[in-house]
Amino acid sequence: METFQSQLRRKLSAALEAADLPTAGEVSVAADPRFGDYQTNAALVIAKQHGENPRAVADRITKELDVSDISEPPITAGVGFINFTLKRAAVEKKIAELLIDERLGVEKISQPKRIVIDFGSPNVAKPMHVGHIRSTVLGDALARIAEFLGHEVIRDNHIGDWGTQFGMVIWGWKNLLDREALTREPIAELVRIYKETNERANKDQNVRDAARAELVKLQAGDPENFSIWQQTVDLSKQEFERAYALLDIHYDIQRGESFYNDRLPEVVDRLLKGGLAEISEGAVCVFFREIPDLKDKPAIIRKRDGGFNYTTSDIATVDYRIKDLGADTIWIVTGAPQQLHFKEIFEIARREGYRADFRHITNGNILGEDRKLMKTRSGENVPLLDVLDEAIERAHKAIEEKNPDLSHSEKNTIAKIIGIGALKYADLSQYRMTDYVFSFNRMLSLQGNTAPYLQNAYVRIRSIMRRMGQEFSPPATVRLTEPAEIQLAKKVCQFAEIVPQVLNDFRPNILANYLFELANSFHSFYEACPVLKAEEPSRSSRLALSNLTGRVLERGLKLLGIDVPEKM
Ligand code: ARG
Repeated sequence: METFQSQLRRKLSAALEAADLPTAGEVSVAADPRFGDYQTNAALVIAKQHGENPRAVADRITKELDVSDISEPPITAGVGFINFTLKRAAVEKKIAELLIDERLGVEKISQPKRIVIDFGSPNVAKPMHVGHIRSTVLGDALARIAEFLGHEVIRDNHIGDWGTQFGMVIWGWKNLLDREALTREPIAELVRIYKETNERANKDQNVRDAARAELVKLQAGDPENFSIWQQTVDLSKQEFERAYALLDIHYDIQRGESFYNDRLPEVVDRLLKGGLAEISEGAVCVFFREIPDLKDKPAIIRKRDGGFNYTTSDIATVDYRIKDLGADTIWIVTGAPQQLHFKEIFEIARREGYRADFRHITNGNILGEDRKLMKTRSGENVPLLDVLDEAIERAHKAIEEKNPDLSHSEKNTIAKIIGIGALKYADLSQYRMTDYVFSFNRMLSLQGNTAPYLQNAYVRIRSIMRRMGQEFSPPATVRLTEPAEIQLAKKVCQFAEIVPQVLNDFRPNILANYLFELANSFHSFYEACPVLKAEEPSRSSRLALSNLTGRVLERGLKLLGIDVPEKM
């Protein structure tokens, strides 16, 4: 089903061609609804290129524009914008079509891609902290949206389960481990032994050498060290799984760094043979002499001591994803500090001849009330599981107050939906690069641009549907008369325009903000227009519009990884 926006785009191109003008400009949703529903700046762009009067160009375009099936006659406004106001009948027809469309008007992509999405990717033997919310929730939302649009998505958890830190972890395990503590709080104990070993190693050359020796043994496949390493990985994964279960995050594969270990020597040989790498001061390096910001930052792919590193491992990862998984698109979601690293990885892949579409999707930080990186009072990272538990607990309290008669199990289910939804939405409603201040009070509020506000709009709609007294079935035709209901209907029609836009620059916040506006439009409609008490044919049409709004809210939130409750 074609959206209004794409219909107008198509008609605009035809008009430009007929008027002998170059294809230019965009059709976008009008910034100010008083001037219409959509607008194009095509005349402005063309006039600027050719040094002509924009209003005159606009008139030439409108003369050729044939939009009468969906729009009132287009109007040239201000400095030369062309404005379109949708015809009521066109909106009514579209709503009737959307009512019987499973996909709410969202078309599948014509050329689906096979996309590996690498997101979350925490490190073993370290606790997941609050900052992990960002990459995890962002990657998951992008995966859901890409999949809904028809792409083939492979969610890959590239956990950090290999590297020099394991020398310390193994030495600590052999010399400092408290078994009881390990059973009680495995990750805390792993962190403790790692930290303590590290401190000792800093002071004592013997410990340093011993930890190094443990690492060499692990790399050589020593069974004891391998088993210790395996245990730390398993314990960490169990902890990750607890967070993923609460967050409703699912991976298709988990190929951690260790998975690539055997392939690293081959990567270095290949790059050396191909002339892409060279030996410099005993290390094997790739230089980027012609790239200004990488000029003095060669990538080391084999250290002087013969060891491989994060870069080597990511080059092997590119190979695997393209050759073994058959990906033509790779999205990697991490914090901004890894920007240079991936710029180098993608550049090396390009030099190797890979043609895949590589994207590094970065995110900003979560801040505390003091606007610095969020930390506990003692200055530690805030453990993710604590944050998840607290969000659910607070939501539970709010439900207890608002709706004490709900059953025990209903309260638990709803608390999880609201608490986790609030956390995810607080993150996804921000531009991914914006640092934001974490606040339970704000994210759980029923007022403002929050998940509970949107969930509450949904719950209100569900309650109307229950009070209707019969099963909802969509009417064949829809009649809209009041400005508030027409406005809501137009907003509903925009869903199919918004969803694909998210992937242009990986901005789920566009969808979040759309849903917020939709909920606002619904509240205005609900205040202005009686639904159950209205006369026919308004009653059926308003019920249908309410139902459709509920479906869009539900689907939209689901694409962000957020559930909706029936009651709250
Ligand atoms: N484990 C890394 C970290 O915590 C993120 C991994 C991202 N993916 C990758 N292919 N390097 O920073």
